[in-house]
Amino acid sequence: MRRRRIVLIGYGAIAAELAEALLARGHAVDVLLKPGLASRQRVPETLGLVPDVAALAADGPDLVIEAAGHEAVRQVVPACLEAGLPVLISSIGALHDDALNERLVGLAREHGGRLLLPSGALGALDYVRAVRHAGALSLRYQSRKPPAAWAAELRALGHDPAALAEPVTLFAGTARQAAALYPQNLNVAAALALAGPGFEATGVEVICDPEAGGNTHVVLADSELGTMRLSIVNNPSPTNPKTSWIVGRSLLAAVDQYFSPVMMV
Ligand SMILES: NC(=O)c1ccc[n+]([C@@H]2O[C@H](COP(=O)([O-])OP(=O)(O)OC[C@H]3O[C@@H](n4cnc5c(N)ncnc54)[C@H](O)[C@@H]3O)[C@@H](O)[C@H]2O)c1
Repeated sequence: MRRRRIVLIGYGAIAAELAEALLARGHAVDVLLKPGLASRQRVPETLGLVPDVAALAADGPDLVIEAAGHEAVRQVVPACLEAGLPVLISSIGALHDDALNERLVGLAREHGGRLLLPSGALGALDYVRAVRHAGALSLRYQSRKPPAAWAAELRALGHDPAALAEPVTLFAGTARQAAALYPQNLNVAAALALAGPGFEATGVEVICDPEAGGNTHVVLADSELGTMRLSIVNNPSPTNPKTSWIVGRSLLAAVDQYFSPVMMV
């Protein structure tokens, strides 16, 4: 594979794992961090540091990858798109803000940049894209996590998390409402809504399930074309238990695909 120049925004659990894999493939990797953040000390010497977003835009790398959070999507990604760069975004939940989403798409269109949205912790977005205009479509996403993941919320409802015997539904509504209530947990639901019929027409349930073996995502799609039932149980990242381990590999697969002469779409 040809050597490419890639800039990572952020250097947390996902970016550190990804950087190692990208270097192993022979790519050159630089990192952009917010000034003063503790993760600056963790960036190894094999990686370059980009001082600010203006330097990033002027340098014109082959690909920018955001693995830093919703704030970075708002603050850094617009300037990258204005410079005509392709940007792979892990914090897809930030795009539930219609004004931000439209601004980013407009900048990409105007300046020749590209927004790339990976499947992240989920799968089967190809199927969801294919059925998005199908008749009689119902698309629902369920997040099933063990009670420990929602201990405070369960206590607020009068449940003892340690003694929960039956599943408890914490939330049922649209992906739009879920975005407002749980902004940090919405990356997966946002990816589904954007691939499918949008934030209003995508149903979301957040369920505490004592039987859930890990962070479980269930997608239920019914339409005139058929049905899909998807269930994924993700193991946590060894360095950030809030992040699924698969996410770094999903970004790596997206990078490979982006530079590949063969594209699976
Ligand atoms: N698409 C998905 O399925 C999915 C799943 C999990 C996480 N994510 C997203 O990935 C992001 C990163 O996850 P992680 O586990 O690596 O998080 P992490 O907390 O381990 O690391 C975040 C890194 O970003 C840096 N950072 C924060 N704000 C920044 C800014 N404005 N500019 C530059 N750097 C900044 C931090 O210093 C840190 O290095 C999450 O915030 C989440 O939005 C997406």
